[in-house]
Amino acid sequence: MSAQTTLRGDYTRAAPDYSLEQDWAAYTADEHALFRRLYERQAKLVARYACAEWIEAIGRLDAGREIPKFCEINRSLAKATGWRIVAVPGLIPDGPFFTHLAQRRFPVTVWLRKPEEFDYIVEPDVFHDFFGHVPLLYDRVYADHLAEYGKGGLKAMRLDAITMLARLYWYTIEFGLMRTPSGVRAYGAGLLSSGGELAYCVDDPRPRRRPFELERMLRTDYRIDRYQDCYFVIDSFAQLMRDTAPDFTPIYARLRNLPALDPQAA
Ligand code: PHE
Ligand code: CO
Repeated sequence: MSAQTTLRGDYTRAAPDYSLEQDWAAYTADEHALFRRLYERQAKLVARYACAEWIEAIGRLDAGREIPKFCEINRSLAKATGWRIVAVPGLIPDGPFFTHLAQRRFPVTVWLRKPEEFDYIVEPDVFHDFFGHVPLLYDRVYADHLAEYGKGGLKAMRLDAITMLARLYWYTIEFGLMRTPSGVRAYGAGLLSSGGELAYCVDDPRPRRRPFELERMLRTDYRIDRYQDCYFVIDSFAQLMRDTAPDFTPIYARLRNLPALDPQAA
């Protein structure tokens, strides 16, 4: 979410808000084929492991043949929930990121990973951003919640509480699980776009699966370089919306003096 020093991607073409043209014509046939292979691998898993809201939305998108044209997606997305995708060169700084979300624009990285990164990639690419994040923007409650998160991000910057709020994003938007009538399902984008962790997060007996607990999430550290040791399970997007609605100001003030929690600790 925050800019590092060694990002890939061409930041020279980007506007001050980090948006740029997708330049769809510049993708090669090999890139479209790699996107299709990534999509096909995940398509076999999602029926069993993804939440119903995500499955319902991806069905409407018909995006498995090639890297999608963002402008086409935006026509149906804007109608559904008022959200739009904006193309960005890669990870962007917190301020512009939260501003985009607060104004219902989801930043999607334009570049696709290399073939040797088929199974694992450190930075988000167009496959992760599109396949993982965009379908849920069609869900009304999720879409409203993510815009509120963006506003909450701008507020957390003023309160010097980004570390805490970023943990919430990690354990919900990126690695969140949901309890459903057919069992635990994934709604986090980092899970939905992962070849290995999508089955692991639901089936493997090792990781801890805790019920949604706001203050614990704000305090729990996370690892970005391995499967998670701890997931948080929501009952519904309505619960996510409701439980994140309170003013975080006093919560940040209280939690900032407490030690962070280790995701591996029992
Ligand atoms: N309610 C939070 C606050 O007052 C903002 C927020 C909303 C954060 C939704 C995350 C998700 O800071
Ligand atoms: Co992501």
